[in-house]
Amino acid sequence: MNDHAPPPDLRAKGAALIHEAALVAGTWIPAGGDAIAVDNPADERVLGRVPKLGGDEVDRAIAAAAAAFRPWAATKGKARGEFLARWAELVTANEDDLAALISLENGKPWKEALGEVRYANSFISWFSGMAERLDGKAIESANGGDLILAFREPVGPVAAITPWNFPAAMVTRKLAAAFCAGCPVVLKPASATPFTALALAALALEAGLPEGCLSVVTGAQDVVGGRLTGSPLIRKLSFTGSTEVGRKLAAQCAPTLKRLSMELGGAAPLLVFDDADLEVAVEGAVAGKFRAGGQTCVCPNRVYVQAGVKGAYLEKLTARVAALKVGDPFAAGVEIGPLIDAKGVAKVEDHIARTLAAGGRLLTGGQRLEGRFFQPTVMVGGDDALFCHEETFGPVVPVFSFDTEEEALARANASEFGLAAFLFTDDLNRAMRVGRGIEAGLIGVNTGLISNAANPFGGIKQSGYGREGSVYGIDDYLQVKSLTLALR
Ligand code: SIN
Repeated sequence: MNDHAPPPDLRAKGAALIHEAALVAGTWIPAGGDAIAVDNPADERVLGRVPKLGGDEVDRAIAAAAAAFRPWAATKGKARGEFLARWAELVTANEDDLAALISLENGKPWKEALGEVRYANSFISWFSGMAERLDGKAIESANGGDLILAFREPVGPVAAITPWNFPAAMVTRKLAAAFCAGCPVVLKPASATPFTALALAALALEAGLPEGCLSVVTGAQDVVGGRLTGSPLIRKLSFTGSTEVGRKLAAQCAPTLKRLSMELGGAAPLLVFDDADLEVAVEGAVAGKFRAGGQTCVCPNRVYVQAGVKGAYLEKLTARVAALKVGDPFAAGVEIGPLIDAKGVAKVEDHIARTLAAGGRLLTGGQRLEGRFFQPTVMVGGDDALFCHEETFGPVVPVFSFDTEEEALARANASEFGLAAFLFTDDLNRAMRVGRGIEAGLIGVNTGLISNAANPFGGIKQSGYGREGSVYGIDDYLQVKSLTLALR
């Protein structure tokens, strides 16, 4: 997938896409005196600023979405699908530069960022094909004579709040489904990475999205989030972020009874059974764990290896992780960029210190490099409870061991989270048994990469509810309405 050689001048091309503005009801509002500075995590220098919008401007965006709702919902599904297809074409035409913009504001290596742009675009393409297939059902009524027509209609104006770890993909996973269903969106991107969202919005307008169907509101979470969650005009909130913030937003949405999609935190277990192909299990752990430098909510947070293969697995894993190249996101061969901010670095250091204090050992890494760069780390031993209950969100693999399948399952499920889980085994019966037994929304068997437009993405337990992408993802943006025909 990441087959293409980096073109020259990437940094400049990414920077050229920066809009130092917010988009409110079709108007770009430039960053003024009271603005949010967005920095480049690799060199810690300011890339640009976006406005800290006030409540009135957010209300204007909401009013525009409400005004745009009926006309957009009444547009033929085919036309909405054609708009999405045009948006996807523009994203493809600009993919190198969008990837550079992601690298600049998020810090992930350019090739990985290019993979993210394509992943993001796959949601636009996926939902472009679905827009003319939003059919309902004809149902015979229980009283025999009448006919019930069940329609699926858009829920109304949507608020979307997206995180910094996938500045493009988390935006399109929500927006493409909303636009497909016929819902306008007011988007609040993460303050650390607003420029990718703004660049995607500019392309959506270029592709013909009616004004008012998308506003991108930047600013303080309490002001912007407060207005979005409090407004009765917003009928749904889709949020990706921490469980703590998700709970607060859900409570704020309760008085107006909004529909909610909550894609929250995880603490994914990864199980390696003694019948697994160890090379596959090492590659799976590395691919899953070090994606976005370990800053994903689906990445393995704790690895459990069956006792008989633990030594061999650790040896291979440690060698592979020690060879990972950390550095400038634009440099050739770099696989891991910086962490997003100093708080992220401090959390990684804290998890390592607590594991060492609990009797764990470092097998490789463990140190901060310059700035926000951190060595890819493998640890063994210590207390797995920390990793059951707290996401590290950084490049650390803590490894523990187990003896029996029952123990593996119990330890995998010993968490309030239930987003993703991974297991490696060559026994299909075991894969089915354990896979069905693990309490998580997404299970990877013999793979560490499960994120895909066709996969229903979402969690259970404290990892949230609702599904994104896939044939199920559209349901979060639709509501069923019935019409009963009394037949004579
Ligand atoms: C995340 O929200 O961290 C994971 C996103 C993905 O894999 O799609």
